[in-house]
Amino acid sequence: MNNQLGNQPREQWGSRLGFILAAMGSAVGLGNIWRFSYVTGENGGAAFLIIYFLCIILIGIPILMAEFTIGRRAQSDVVGSFQTLAPRKPWVIGGFIGVASAFIILSFYGVIAGWTLFYFTNYLTGTLWSAPSEGYGAYFDTFITHPTYPIIWQFIFMGLTIAVVLIGVKNGIEKTNKILMPILAVLLIVLAGYSLTLGGAKEGLLFLFSPDWSAFKNPEVYLAGLGQAFFSLSLGMGALITYGSYLSKEEKLPGAAYSVASLDTLFAVIAGIMIFPAVFAFGIEPGYGAGLAFVTLPDIFDSIALGGLVGLAFFFLLVAAGLSSAVSLLEVAVAYFIRRFSWSRRFATIVIGSIIFLLGIPSSLGLGAWSHITIFNKSILDSMDFLASNIFLPIGGLIIALFVGWGWNKSEAMKESDFGDTFIGHLWIFILRFIAPIAIVLIFLSAIGLF
Ligand code: TRP
Repeated sequence: MNNQLGNQPREQWGSRLGFILAAMGSAVGLGNIWRFSYVTGENGGAAFLIIYFLCIILIGIPILMAEFTIGRRAQSDVVGSFQTLAPRKPWVIGGFIGVASAFIILSFYGVIAGWTLFYFTNYLTGTLWSAPSEGYGAYFDTFITHPTYPIIWQFIFMGLTIAVVLIGVKNGIEKTNKILMPILAVLLIVLAGYSLTLGGAKEGLLFLFSPDWSAFKNPEVYLAGLGQAFFSLSLGMGALITYGSYLSKEEKLPGAAYSVASLDTLFAVIAGIMIFPAVFAFGIEPGYGAGLAFVTLPDIFDSIALGGLVGLAFFFLLVAAGLSSAVSLLEVAVAYFIRRFSWSRRFATIVIGSIIFLLGIPSSLGLGAWSHITIFNKSILDSMDFLASNIFLPIGGLIIALFVGWGWNKSEAMKESDFGDTFIGHLWIFILRFIAPIAIVLIFLSAIGLF
C-alpha cells in the first residue's frame, strides 16, 4: 500500500484526528469569511443561503465522500487516482481540470490572503486600532489599488504556503490546526454575539434568514450557491482526493465527511451572523463586493474597548486558516508533479508555488493599475474566481460523481466508502448517478439561459 511519491515513501496522517483536522483545515478558510460574506451580500442573502445549503446536502456531501473514497482507494494524486482506478479511460480529464483549478484558485487566493496578512500587520503596529482619517473603506481601497503593496503581501503569503508544503502537509498543519481552528471558532461566536448588539441585528438577521422569494427565480443565485458550496468545502478539484490518499484503511470515511461539511457550514453561518448585523449597523452596502469583510470587520473592532487586540487575534487566526487552505491547494499540484515527473518535493513546491504567485499578479493589479481590463464586466480577480469556482469546480465535481456512480463497480464503491451495502450506501450511489449530475447540469443550463 505504500505507493511511492517520487522516491520518498508516501506520507500518512499521524492519526485519525490528523486527517479530519487537515480536511477541516482545507475547508475552513477565507472562503467561509471573506468569500461567503461577499457572495451572500451580492446575491441578496437568505435565498442564496438556502440554495447554498441545498447544494451542500444534495451535491456537496456525496461528492466529498466520493473524493475521500477515490483518494484512499487509489493512494495517488488527483490525476494518478483516475489513472489507477480506470486506466486509459477519459475520466482522467477530471484530474487535469483539478490541477488546473488548483493553479487558478491559489493564484487569487494568495492575493486575498495577502490582504489578510496586511491587515494583521496593521493591527500589530496599531495603525488600524482607530479609524484612519479617510475611513476604513477608503483605507482598504487605497491599499488594494496600490500597484505594488498587495503584490508584496501576496508574495509573503505564498512564501509561507511554500514553506509549509515543504515541511510536508502532515508536519506542517496537523498540530497548528488542532490549536488554532477551535480558537477561531470561539472568537467568531463571541464576535457574532457582539455584532448582534450593534443595532443592526434585526436587519442583519432578516437579510440572512428571511428570503426574498423572487430571488429564487434568478439563475445566477443558483450558480453562485453551487460555486460557494464547492469552494467552501474544497470540492471538485481533488484536494480531498489528495488528502484521502494519505489515509490508511482503518479510518471510517462517512463520519469524517459529515464532520467536515457541518463544521465548514457552521463557520460560514457564524461568520454571516458576525458580518451582516454589523453591515447594517454601520450603513455598509451588503453588495459591496469582494472587500465586504475587510471594510466591515475593522468597524466592529473599533467599537470594542481595546478592540485592536481583538482585531490582531482575529486576523492572525484568519491568516492561519487561509494558510491551511492554501496548503491544500498547493498540495494538489505539487503531489501531481512529484509523481508525474519524479521531482523532489522541494523542487516541485518551490517551482509550482512561484508559478502560482506569478499567475496571481494580474488578479492583484486588476483591482488597481489594470482595472481598465475587465472580462464580462468583472475584474481579473473576479473572473478568475468565477471561472474556477462556478465552472471548473462543478465540472470537476460532475466528473467525480459520474466516475464513482457509473465508472466504478457499484458494490466496490460502496465497500470502499465504508457505507457498505446499506440504505445510505445505495442512496449515495443514486445521488452520484442522478441527483448531483442532473442538478449541476440544470444549474449550468439555467445560467446560460437554456433552462
Ligand atoms: N475551502 C477553502 C476556503 O474556504 C479554499 C480551498 C482550499 C479550496 N482547497 C480548495 C477551494 C480546493 C476549492 C478547492 O477557504
